[in-house]
Amino acid sequence: MIVFSGNGNKELAARISQHLDMPLGAARVDRFSDGEIRVEIQDNVRGKDVFIIQPTCSPANDNILEALVMVDACRRASARRITLVCPYFGYARQERKSAPRTPITAKLIADLFTVSGIDRLLVMELHTSAIQGFFNIPVDHLFSKPIFGPYFQNHEDLLIVSPDAGGVERARAMAKYYECGLAIVDKRRDRPNESDVMNVIGDVTGKNCLIIDDICDTGGSLCKTAEALMENGAKSVSAAITHAVLSGPAIERITNSVLKELVVTDTIPLSDAAKKCSKITQLSVGDLLSKAIRRIHSSGSISNLFV
Ligand code: R5P
Repeated sequence: MIVFSGNGNKELAARISQHLDMPLGAARVDRFSDGEIRVEIQDNVRGKDVFIIQPTCSPANDNILEALVMVDACRRASARRITLVCPYFGYARQERKSAPRTPITAKLIADLFTVSGIDRLLVMELHTSAIQGFFNIPVDHLFSKPIFGPYFQNHEDLLIVSPDAGGVERARAMAKYYECGLAIVDKRRDRPNESDVMNVIGDVTGKNCLIIDDICDTGGSLCKTAEALMENGAKSVSAAITHAVLSGPAIERITNSVLKELVVTDTIPLSDAAKKCSKITQLSVGDLLSKAIRRIHSSGSISNLFV
């Protein structure tokens, strides 16, 4: 078994390597003078079980292409099996035609990965689980419940909130874990990256609300949801969101919001501004991913990593 990392999230790759108690494989992944991607796998991979860690976060297009080129290099160097460890699967929100003449980019990315020669994919908290079906190879889909669950364990008067109808299944799993209630915010979105909170479904009065979501991008959905909950009588609002995309005005919005705390994971590296934001706490998925990698390698079950 050998584990490589692209440039997508070197901090997380280092944590995974620590948990695995093995150094990352040697590989040169940089650019030629004209900007084209240059990959040179420096360790022997012939007959090996290869894992390539590369979330396809921003710069998404560069990170996707890096992953494809790394897979191609390993395939041509006679790797026995290649697993792409993609903790954050970029373009996941383009998983269906949302308007006439729009692409299904998530499916296109899935096809590109498959054509490049990956044998399996390990991902975390996909925007929607059905994306697994875009691949005709095994997809191991991990959830953030084991990460966020213990963190909010002793919070009193907890109420889980889904910020939109699409996230109810994810939020329900957390409500079940804490044996607490669930509320839903009915959100209407007119343009991409803009959201309008319409209605809070459920009684949030006097509750410490915990918003559960997969992605915090511009922070619009999160901050407006938090505002609506406070207006409806919540005692406090925190959030547990797996993928800290945090683009554009996100940090400013979060800083100025009514939100008490935003807990994210390290599937995506935090910017310096995000690291400095006192409302943001980062928890690591390094241990969880290292366990999944070990079990994939030894053909063990990973289903009990979900609980
Ligand atoms: C949408 O369905 C997702 O689950 C997130 O709620 C959304 O992508 C967050 O985007 P933003 O932070 O830009 O509102």
